[in-house]
Amino acid sequence: MKEKKILIAGPASQILGVKIAQELEIEAISTEVKLFPDGENYLRINIEDETLIAGKEVIIVQSTALSSNGNQNSRLMELFMMIDSVKRMGATKIIVVAPYLAYARQDKIFRPGESQFANVIFRMINSMGIDEFYTVDIHAPKVMEECSCKAVNIDSMKILADYITAKGAKDIVVVAPDKGAVERSKVFASHFGENIPVDFFKKERDVETGEITMEGNLNLKNKDVVIADDIIATGGTMATAIKLARKSGANKIYAVATHALLLGQAKFKILKAGADEIIGTDAIDNEVSKVSLAKIVADYLK
Ligand code: R5P
Repeated sequence: MKEKKILIAGPASQILGVKIAQELEIEAISTEVKLFPDGENYLRINIEDETLIAGKEVIIVQSTALSSNGNQNSRLMELFMMIDSVKRMGATKIIVVAPYLAYARQDKIFRPGESQFANVIFRMINSMGIDEFYTVDIHAPKVMEECSCKAVNIDSMKILADYITAKGAKDIVVVAPDKGAVERSKVFASHFGENIPVDFFKKERDVETGEITMEGNLNLKNKDVVIADDIIATGGTMATAIKLARKSGANKIYAVATHALLLGQAKFKILKAGADEIIGTDAIDNEVSKVSLAKIVADYLK
């Protein structure tokens, strides 16, 4: 009998795509991408026989973060092209896994005249007529309500906590880099055991300049500190929190993010501030993708 499911590993999620396919024991297909001279994106699914897709349940895996071979707009265009292409070829069910979703942080209006673009991204994905959508630790899960299809936000906290536990961390305190991350940090702490303390620094961001200020004097003496955020972008938030944690007497400091984008000098800033290790997932394919999402995503898709 012909296999009913097939997976397309998008250009931004080649490793994670193949690993998910292996977990599901299904075939993974790659893509071919380029930019036309005028800057337009081109994507082709690497198959010679379109009947390979017809009648199949197709899983498309594509993170949409900026990387060396495409910015987030290209990544989104490639995602839309993959959806359109498999639909045209007769896929019976389309499941999108976008572990990192670009624009997710633009979920609120901070200044007059802005667009609430995170919601628009979801409306666009929804309008493509997909059946199921999965992402991981999205910045503000509420935006997913824009999707009329099944939309799931997968929590990667347990596997990140397991990684840190395996490193031998002890006397752990989980520190949220701002008040908004406290609820998430509480869930994170629960994966290290019972009664693991959770504390937070007070962060303010200037909505015009993006500059951050942070304050707080926590009792972290001789504690192994885990600072967990959903995203590390420029590293400003994480580095500032690490400096404060160092001042507060922390022993080891683990800088953890589901989506470690590590833009520009972020790695330098975070390590110089005093982190012992930077830990991310393979939602973003880079040198700190130490924790793979393959199994938990595959478990959702089974
Ligand atoms: C903001 O609310 C997010 O959760 C992150 O704290 C933020 O995106 C990190 O950005 P950066 O690394 O540029 O400070």
